[in-house]
Amino acid sequence: MTRNIHAEKIVILDFGSQYTQLIARRIREIGVFCEIVGYEINEEELLAMGADGFILSGGPESVTEDRPPRAPEKVFTSGVPVLGICYGMQTMASQLGGVVEGSSKQEFGYARVTVSKDNDLLRGIADSRVGGESQLDVWMSHGDKVVGLPPGFDGNATTETTEFASISNPAGKLYGVQFHPEVNDTRQGEALLRRFVGDICGCEGLWRAENIIDDIVTNVRERVGTNRVILGLSGGVDSSVVAALLSRAIGDQLTCVFVDNGLLRAGEVEQVVDMLGKGSDNVFSLDIVPVDASDRFLTALAGVTSPEEKRKIIGRTFIDVFDEEAGRLTDVKFLAQGTIYPDVIESAGNKGSKAHVIKSHHNVGGLPEFMKLELIEPLRELFKDEVRKIGVTLGLSQEMVGRHPFPGPGLSVRILGDVKKEYADLLRQADKIFIDELLRAGLYNEVSQAFAVFLPVKAVGVVGDARRYEYVVTLRAVETVDFMTARWAHLPYDFLERVSSRIMNEVAGIARVAYDISSKPPATIEWE
Ligand code: XMP
Repeated sequence: MTRNIHAEKIVILDFGSQYTQLIARRIREIGVFCEIVGYEINEEELLAMGADGFILSGGPESVTEDRPPRAPEKVFTSGVPVLGICYGMQTMASQLGGVVEGSSKQEFGYARVTVSKDNDLLRGIADSRVGGESQLDVWMSHGDKVVGLPPGFDGNATTETTEFASISNPAGKLYGVQFHPEVNDTRQGEALLRRFVGDICGCEGLWRAENIIDDIVTNVRERVGTNRVILGLSGGVDSSVVAALLSRAIGDQLTCVFVDNGLLRAGEVEQVVDMLGKGSDNVFSLDIVPVDASDRFLTALAGVTSPEEKRKIIGRTFIDVFDEEAGRLTDVKFLAQGTIYPDVIESAGNKGSKAHVIKSHHNVGGLPEFMKLELIEPLRELFKDEVRKIGVTLGLSQEMVGRHPFPGPGLSVRILGDVKKEYADLLRQADKIFIDELLRAGLYNEVSQAFAVFLPVKAVGVVGDARRYEYVVTLRAVETVDFMTARWAHLPYDFLERVSSRIMNEVAGIARVAYDISSKPPATIEWE
């Protein structure tokens, strides 16, 4: 029987912390569905969501300022348990009659918390015990602090500089922690969140890969009926997992179109057909229509050097090609897309959020309204790590779901300036050597994204007695959590030496290999 995976739900009120999505991921990992809404959400709408618990996130503002962001008042009186984290605890204290002050001593980073009066949130959870008192190693990041408790509240924990590192009103089911349980550096963070979600909110844990798959499959079947669905496969993780899911839900009613724009990585089309297509040894046996449109894309790009212009051309050409293919199929009613939850949160469509601007260039491949197809977005509620888990549960390989992200405009933003087939061919070879060596050295999963970049300038080299005058590639590898900031990966010198020597020896046309040591910011991850 299909379990209702949304029957239990935690709602996070977002006050703008960079960790809000991390809180949601942690709750999902515990096995409970969790949604993020902006703090400005309408009170009635919020209560109608039927949450089993509310979490108030941290945030960059100060409750001591004029008109600080506040939680809807009924959150505190609805009887649904509330956990305030950092700013969330401060606004809870302040809104309920406590006192919050700016502090001259900021606490940032590691702190040791001593539990002074335990409660149903903290009981039995400790990293160490000193003189009968439990201590927790936590991660803090705050300037303001609670200095006066609201009526009915206890102080439950202290640090050297903070009298109220945790507060609660168990009768009202209201809890606050000044530290961040969602980050790994708070060693008992998961135990605390589990305690809140499980014991205090009473959630059992229905949000599991198998249940999620059953739920999506049931919904898709109901919506699609006997109609036909079309999906643009890109070789990326999200569209591949959508394909695998729809294969289970509707089998032959799905047609996948894979547009080769001439700017894909080496072997990409073959890999995807092998992994998902008919006639190969896989469980999916999908109907994949490969469309070789590389000439059309390269012709459209000829002579264009501006990165934004290149992105637009690729987006437009993709839509034209896809539309033509869709037109060849009769009775297609639905278009499936691999939109995931962070895309939804970051778009204006999220409840109670101020509209955030999505980077225009990340929308390449979005389809226009004239296509008149209804959208199916089976991954709309899922974070990337959940998408991967579901992919593996459905039978995709770890290697496939663990692939680095690859931008929609493909190699066109990794060939600086004018895009030519000759450049793309050279770049593909160099990139493949780099990636193969990363895999071989066990370093692929140590970096978040790695690729080669083609520089259309020539440098001098020497082979035997002859001088040669050929192109340059740069290797780029970064470590990042969210791709908003990134550190260049400190790959071992002997590894870089091996890659560079292989590229220069094996790729006729490349005379020099450089390694990019720019972090983001101020650089970006891609070169264009
Ligand atoms: P940047 O270069 O902005 O890259 O630091 C951050 C992440 O976004 C990817 N990226 C793109 N993805 N279309 C995409 O689908 C694009 O136009 C695009 N530009 C950058 C980039 O690969 C990295 O993962």
